Amino acid sequence: MKTVGVFDSGVGGLSVLRALLAELPGTRFVYAADSAHAPYGERTAQDVSARTHRITAQLREQHGIDALVVACNTATAHAIDDLRKAYPDLPIVGVEPALKPAAALSRSGGIGVLATRGTLESARFAQLRDRLIAAAPRPLRFISQPCDGLAAAIERHELPTIEALSTRYVKELLQGPQGDHPIDTLVLGCTHYPFAAELLGRLCGPDVTLVDTGAPVARRTRDVLGLPLLPGAPAVPPLLLSSGNPSALAQAAQRWLGLGVEARSL
Ligand code: DGL
Repeated sequence: MKTVGVFDSGVGGLSVLRALLAELPGTRFVYAADSAHAPYGERTAQDVSARTHRITAQLREQHGIDALVVACNTATAHAIDDLRKAYPDLPIVGVEPALKPAAALSRSGGIGVLATRGTLESARFAQLRDRLIAAAPRPLRFISQPCDGLAAAIERHELPTIEALSTRYVKELLQGPQGDHPIDTLVLGCTHYPFAAELLGRLCGPDVTLVDTGAPVARRTRDVLGLPLLPGAPAVPPLLLSSGNPSALAQAAQRWLGLGVEARSL
């Protein structure tokens, strides 16, 4: 049985773990939440990279992982290239905002992107966006909205703050200083945001389709590991680890994934 590490700044990567458990039921997952250092979105690139290297080393040495899923857009943006150089024999799957699927889905070419400041200000994000715009057969307009504090509020499950920040950021996204920004597709470019998807969808209205990366990342992980589909097989219970409060991680896994497993300190 393969062991795959899944890592995020906190509970957000559980949205990716949910898709991984569905796609790869015969795989053992070790989920590491760096909640003591969350949120990553407003930290420096160096800081995020150092934490990512530290946790990868721990997962490798203490849990013998066969592959790693960096289930965090911010850590992928700042650290994945160096991480691949440091671990050339470890398959590493990253997560980046689903601009490409959104471009394929959008009818109007107007696409909103919600993500952390760190992701949106990274060179990796700019390259991805510019490459797609240059290659597109029709005009594409990506409207990026940094969501300071939203991942932290989801991390702490503070519902009134989640509601207030989501309302503010969707409004800013749809109504810029120069006028309205019509969009028909919204990219959830942070793995925490699928846990506010219902609210974000309501705020955007019924004509906007939300896109996240859980399912494509899970398919990519199965391809990378060369594992077969096992339809209907029961998932192996994952091991949950947190650098912060393990019981908050266990509660989040219960709330969002229906998992009744304990969590331990990372
Ligand atoms: N969930 C992470 C992401 O996908 C990071 C959120 C944060 O810690 O700021 O970007």
